[in-house]
Amino acid sequence: MDYETIIVETRGKVGLITLNRPQALNALNATLLGEVNRALDVFEADRGIGCIVVTGSEKAFAAGADIKEMANLTYPQIYADDHFAGWDRVANRRKPMIAAVAGFALGGGCEFAMMCDFIIAAENAKFGQPEIKLGVMPGMGGTQRLTRLIGRAKAMEMCLTGRMMGAEEAERSGLVARVVPTAELLNEALKTAEAIASMSQPIVMMTKESINRADEVSLSEGVRFERRVFHAMFATADQKEGMAAFVEKRAPRFSDR
Ligand code: CAA
Repeated sequence: MDYETIIVETRGKVGLITLNRPQALNALNATLLGEVNRALDVFEADRGIGCIVVTGSEKAFAAGADIKEMANLTYPQIYADDHFAGWDRVANRRKPMIAAVAGFALGGGCEFAMMCDFIIAAENAKFGQPEIKLGVMPGMGGTQRLTRLIGRAKAMEMCLTGRMMGAEEAERSGLVARVVPTAELLNEALKTAEAIASMSQPIVMMTKESINRADEVSLSEGVRFERRVFHAMFATADQKEGMAAFVEKRAPRFSDR
């Protein structure tokens, strides 16, 4: 399949998407959104893919939504198009997605990274929601996801001032799972993705779904949801295999059933 703005590869059981608009620091335009969704459709349909990694370049994961594409849109146009709604399809994928972030992850770039299940950051990563400086605010979920991840005080400060946050602060604040040396970023992300892809695929997807419920419901409803899904796992062959392998002191051989 031909892509203009991304590079799509398969590394074993891992699907890798590399954002590739270097001339615009990977600014997210409509073509890129369409291509990312197309690549994700393919990976989601492929039973051989167990985890997806999204990355950019060493200079930029993505410097935001494409300002030049957006600048002259009118309210009727942006409303009629339900501009950015296509990103909901990215955020609602069922297979696990890791964002491997080096360099700038600003505006929509930070928001795209936050749509993934977790972020692994290079030491040179810089996160920010600078939209306020453009006379707008985050529009791809930033006011909501950043607040859930790092709390109200820091989200408010970031979105109201537009200041950037380095990798160390981002890890301390809960925005990123882990910081790694910049040169090691892709290797570390692929290793982590391979580890996830080696687990039972249905169990991984149910675990992701259960964690995502935490953003939507009360604690008691979330715990109830978790328990029901936990019970359902006992209908899988992989639960039998995983527990038998432990008892027999051997590695499990999951069959994704
Ligand atoms: N949209 C379109 N083009 C962009 C872009 C963006 N978000 N970010 C960078 N570019 C382009 C620049 O215009 C420039 O192109 P030209 O060479 O044709 O002029 C090229 O990428 C390189 O950028 P710079 O020369 O600016 O590179 P730099 O190293 O000097 O600065 C930067 C890097 C600090 C990231 C700076 O590019 C910048 O501030 N970018 C914009 C960041 C931003 O405001 N992002 C939010 C966008 S709005 C949004 O995302 C809304 C939302 O919630 C979804």
